[in-house]
Amino acid sequence: MDSQAPKGLVVLNHAIVGCGVISNIHGTCLGMVRGSRLAAVMDIVPEKAKALGEKYNVPYFTDRDQMLREVPIDVVHVCTPSGNHHEIAMWAAANRKHCFCEKPMDVTLEAMDLITAAFKKSGTYYGGCFMNRFNPPAQLFKKAVESGRFGRVTTASAQCLWGRTQEYYESGDWRGTWELDGGGCLMNQAVHYVDLIQWLVGSPVKSIRAYTGLLAHERIAVEDTAVAILKFANGALGVIHGTTAAYPGPHGTVEVCGDKGNASYDGKIIRWKFADEQAEDKTILETGGVPPAAKPADGATTGSDPAALGAYHVMFTRAFQEFSDAIQSGTPNALGTAEHRKAVEIILGIYESARRGGEEVRLPLKKSAIPVPMSLPAGYAEKVKGAIHPTLPEAMVTFRKKRASAKKGARGKSAKAKSSGKAAKATAKKSPKSARKAKRGRK
Ligand SMILES: NC(=O)c1ccc[n+]([C@@H]2O[C@H](COP(=O)([O-])OP(=O)(O)OC[C@H]3O[C@@H](n4cnc5c(N)ncnc54)[C@H](O)[C@@H]3O)[C@@H](O)[C@H]2O)c1
Repeated sequence: MDSQAPKGLVVLNHAIVGCGVISNIHGTCLGMVRGSRLAAVMDIVPEKAKALGEKYNVPYFTDRDQMLREVPIDVVHVCTPSGNHHEIAMWAAANRKHCFCEKPMDVTLEAMDLITAAFKKSGTYYGGCFMNRFNPPAQLFKKAVESGRFGRVTTASAQCLWGRTQEYYESGDWRGTWELDGGGCLMNQAVHYVDLIQWLVGSPVKSIRAYTGLLAHERIAVEDTAVAILKFANGALGVIHGTTAAYPGPHGTVEVCGDKGNASYDGKIIRWKFADEQAEDKTILETGGVPPAAKPADGATTGSDPAALGAYHVMFTRAFQEFSDAIQSGTPNALGTAEHRKAVEIILGIYESARRGGEEVRLPLKKSAIPVPMSLPAGYAEKVKGAIHPTLPEAMVTFRKKRASAKKGARGKSAKAKSSGKAAKATAKKSPKSARKAKRGRK
């Protein structure tokens, strides 16, 4: 939670901004959340707004301000390309709306910090979409870690082995770019698994070594393969293995080991061994920790049961329910800005280590690196030059300018305080150089 919510709301009106692939899951799952309903949708592409609006029988818009003027909205769902999340989230905050933001939170530390500051100021709720935390096996793992069943957690690993075709990357201009996708298999797909292991270990990542590569796709600027090792502050070690080049995909495995237990799941629990055996362990292994899916009766619709639609819908519906309940009751929600930010910072650390040839990178990071994949085919860097060096979104440029001028002001003041006219002159002389340096850094 980022702050207290207005109380006394009976049904929350949700609006989806960005009517692409994932918006359909938001639309369907919102229909199964108590105390919430989809009230409007918006996309800058008219046909997309129309298609989603007609599918869920709600008003649709191409102008987000007009949407707010015409429909009373409580919660904005950010379903736009990742590098654009800060723009929509900050707009929601400025209009004092709650916001449920797709993963990743955004693609740079600077953009995420803008979002955090905006919600601190607005006093409305921010919720991050890491719905995999609501997967029943993940919940069982978390409970076992917290109750000490693993003993001392020694290692955790996550493998996100997906197979994405070249056509997938070509299905949207933003896919596979640093500016808007923020990275490749890690920032887009494995981000869920990076979040899961940091959440399960429950201790901050302190240092990272990593390699990334672009091995099986073309005409994208980002990595399709990555491996990383992590050191957590509590001493545990972690491994991340992500790719979108694993035919046929997708597989997602999470493992946690400790001196009193070790367990693993890949969709369902496949290993679950503890020194303190408990009666429920047998059932957990037999069912994989997944409740049996409810099947709709012949000819019946799935109605209000997400299980009838599958595990993916169950996770989203639970994530939305938790967020809606928190707003309604004015209690904290589990996945606010600080939580949503963690996985992205780890991934940015991985990119930085890979960029430096696998050198150790320590967290917290001070600023976002420009991530360059390590195993580029010869001549590739030249071909995609424009995409490798991200142009920063406008809000971030403004943010950096403001920060630079605030720093300059502070430097000016301290120079004055030293009351040396000479010192002031020297600072003034330095400015053009710093400006040139900042400009170079932004390219
Ligand atoms: N939680 C998950 O498992 C999951 C799965 C898929 C995608 N996602 C995330 O959801 C986001 C969207 O992914 P997608 O696959 O749906 O992409 P998409 O390209 O299918 O859809 C994005 C939509 O946003 C619209 N858009 C772009 N800029 C806009 C703006 N300024 N205002 C309004 N609309 C705008 C586009 O026209 C497009 O219709 C990404 O951040 C992605 O990482 C999450």
